[in-house]
Amino acid sequence: MKVLLLGGGGREHALFWKISQSPKLTELKAFPGNGGFPPDAIVRPEAGLDLSNLSTVVDYVRAQKFDLVVVGPEQPLVDGIADALAGVCPVFGPVKAAARLEGSKDFSKDFMDRHGIPTAQSQTFTELAPALEYLGKMTAPIVIKADGLAAGKGVAVCPDLESAEEALRDRLERNVFGSAGHTVLIEEFMAGEETSVFAICDGERAVPFLASQDHKRAFDGDQGPNTGGMGAYLPVPFVDDALMRQVQEQVLDRAMAGMQADGSPYRGLLYAGLMVKDGKARVVEFNVRFGDPETQALMRILDEDLLELMFQAAAGSLPERPLKIRPGAALVVVVAAEGYPGSYSKDLPLKNIDSDEGDIIFFHAGTRRDGDRLLSTGGRVLGVTAVGPDLVAARKAVYDRLKNIDADGVFYRKDIGEKAL
Ligand code: AMP
Ligand code: GLY
Repeated sequence: MKVLLLGGGGREHALFWKISQSPKLTELKAFPGNGGFPPDAIVRPEAGLDLSNLSTVVDYVRAQKFDLVVVGPEQPLVDGIADALAGVCPVFGPVKAAARLEGSKDFSKDFMDRHGIPTAQSQTFTELAPALEYLGKMTAPIVIKADGLAAGKGVAVCPDLESAEEALRDRLERNVFGSAGHTVLIEEFMAGEETSVFAICDGERAVPFLASQDHKRAFDGDQGPNTGGMGAYLPVPFVDDALMRQVQEQVLDRAMAGMQADGSPYRGLLYAGLMVKDGKARVVEFNVRFGDPETQALMRILDEDLLELMFQAAAGSLPERPLKIRPGAALVVVVAAEGYPGSYSKDLPLKNIDSDEGDIIFFHAGTRRDGDRLLSTGGRVLGVTAVGPDLVAARKAVYDRLKNIDADGVFYRKDIGEKAL
């Protein structure tokens, strides 16, 4: 099977690592990849691939006769890459109409309300005056969200109404998020513990992986600004069988049935971001792709052929059984450039990072090769992952290895997984 993997973050490096192990694989190409990928696996610039111009992808996939295209990031899915490749090649990822679950928070809310999926109450606005009037009747804390894709930065959790007003003005008046913020949601704040459940979906059935927990704030103790994710672990102790049954019935099954009823059966990966309180989960958000960095930990303990599952999902024929997950725990800590998620330096030299050292595996995110040197290119630079018989062991392995990272100008959280211990 000849496969093209699109994307170039830690998530895609982890997917690349896992797909590479498939006995069904004959060739795996990636674009744009990063410094952690084998250089000969990366599609060369001469091929003219441009993820913001879908016809370049369609032409390349047709000419190269791929058997499957795996789409890592959300933007090409929201832009309709699965639709563009219909009839050309099977795609792991939902069609455009279904990708609105992530592309538009207003659509997503409406979808959840129509199909009885538990979530926070919310109202949508496009004008400042009625939004402020509505806000005046609410009590804090309250959540203000930009409707469109905003690289994870469009959500403001506001402790008081003054900051909520500022968040509304940022989006509807000051244009801080561009067109993504011209529609806003004012949403009920949900208290509780967050967890992410990923499910692989074939249009009819959604089969969950193990729940994981991300750490979105930049600094220890959940302080500092929101990021794309600074570390993750699994399994999550407060997610038991009863909770997973509720998530399956009220979230995953209803989402699958809803998408079928709406005429766009969901194929690919569905990410349910959940808030859990008193043993019940409500949806914070849906994403239409694997989460990062959770996927880096998840791939380490998935005990079956990911490529085969992806192909079955794309073909509408997932097996009727739970996924095989190795016993034990997995943990990832993200190493980021100082300053992230604000402005940060690039081209920091990284040394002493081999991508496979026994139990530790480095998944690269923002790196590139320059001859023999490895340099940083992104805010999230790489993820350090380990597995172990339990979380204590996996955590110790990662943090022991991190003490020997040879790089200046980077930081990482020291408390990933602490909440679970
Ligand atoms: P999102 O981009 O929708 O995942 O939001 C980013 C983060 O904001 C989430 O991971 C939550 O921590 C927080 N958040 C979003 N919506 C809510 C809500 N309704 N109640 C509480 N926290 C929320
Ligand atoms: N880890 C959060 C995300 O991928 O959206």
